[in-house]
Amino acid sequence: MYNYRYQIVQGFVMLLSLVYAQECNITVHEHLSEQAKIADCSRRGFNEVPQTLPHEIVVLDLTGNKLRDISNFSFENYSLLHNLSLAENKLHIIEEQAFYGLSRLKYLNMSDNNLNLRYVYTPEILLPLQNLTNLDIRRNIQNQPNADVYHYPDQAFAVLKKLRYLAIDVAPNPYFGIGFQGLKNLKSLTFEFCFLKYLRGYTFENFSSNLDELKLTRCHFNFLEVENNALSLFLILPRYILKNHACILNRL
Ligand SMILES: *[C@@H]1O[C@H](CO)[C@@H](O)[C@H](O)[C@H]1NC(C)=O
Ligand SMILES: *[C@@H]1O[C@H](CO)[C@@H](O)[C@H](O)[C@H]1NC(C)=O
Ligand SMILES: *[C@@H]1O[C@H](CO)[C@@H](O)[C@H](O)[C@H]1NC(C)=O
Ligand SMILES: *[C@@H]1O[C@H](CO)[C@@H](O)[C@H](O)[C@H]1NC(C)=O
Ligand SMILES: *[C@@H]1O[C@H](CO)[C@@H](O)[C@H](O)[C@H]1NC(C)=O
Ligand SMILES: *[C@@H]1O[C@H](CO)[C@@H](O)[C@H](O)[C@H]1NC(C)=O
Ligand SMILES: *[C@@H]1O[C@H](CO)[C@@H](O)[C@H](O)[C@H]1NC(C)=O
Repeated sequence: MYNYRYQIVQGFVMLLSLVYAQECNITVHEHLSEQAKIADCSRRGFNEVPQTLPHEIVVLDLTGNKLRDISNFSFENYSLLHNLSLAENKLHIIEEQAFYGLSRLKYLNMSDNNLNLRYVYTPEILLPLQNLTNLDIRRNIQNQPNADVYHYPDQAFAVLKKLRYLAIDVAPNPYFGIGFQGLKNLKSLTFEFCFLKYLRGYTFENFSSNLDELKLTRCHFNFLEVENNALSLFLILPRYILKNHACILNRL
């Protein structure tokens, strides 16, 4: 009788650890002579942010799951996170307080989702991310937008004072407003899924003149209009990479 109950308990414990192992792989790494816990939750079929992980994790990898939205306070118990990847999900909604508590986050990857730049990025949404240095939100425009002026949510990005690296898509007729002047530490700018049709003298004028690197990749150049001085910013950059389509320079 006693033995029987013991076996049930043991079986239950084994089952628990099995389920847990399937969920996320928690590993401990030495990082700057401290123990850093890393949660690998990639490609596990999650449709929401798991809430049962150790609170002290510094890396949370949720790449390749089925997340459609991130609700308020989803990361409030993971406030030590440095790295967060939400890449390759189906995200189209991020609630305004979703990133609450992530003041230490340095790397955020939301590439390959369905986040509409014009509707998702309210002025408040990125406010908690005061320490963010790298933001990857490319490959989110799924269908080529029309050629109407596309206002980027510059006020949302303006709060990212420490941002050094930004990867983002480009609409056919982009308008990068005054808020982009707030990204004073921006060193590297990658444009991907770029559908540029209109390139004007002022198109890039509000990006930091401290930029070291500008990359344009996977462009579908089909220009209707290129102003003469539009590429002046590009030409003073020490490292400027234009993959696949050198034709842009020939047009000037
Ligand atoms: C968990 O991480 C360890 C160490 O990196 C690795 O050896 C193991 O294969 C991983 N397990 C799974 C299920 O990914
Ligand atoms: C999330 O937070 C925002 C801002 O505080 C609030 O307007 C919204 O209603 C919240 N969402 C939910 C589902 O509670
Ligand atoms: C965070 O942890 C607290 C205390 O354990 C809990 O009450 C709260 O619901 C947790 N937050 C989320 C989003 O699960
Ligand atoms: C955080 O993510 C960046 C970019 O993906 C990577 O280079 C870096 O090694 C990661 N850091 C840790 C501690 O995993
Ligand atoms: C930025 O991160 C450091 C530790 O990495 C922390 O001490 C500091 O408070 C964070 N800044 C903000 C504004 O939270
Ligand atoms: C973001 O995630 C994607 C997909 O996993 C990866 O290809 C890309 O290199 C990551 N971005 C950065 C800056 O590490
Ligand atoms: C860039 O900022 C200036 C203000 O310094 C503003 O007048 C201009 O319209 C902005 N450019 C764009 C493309 O929004």
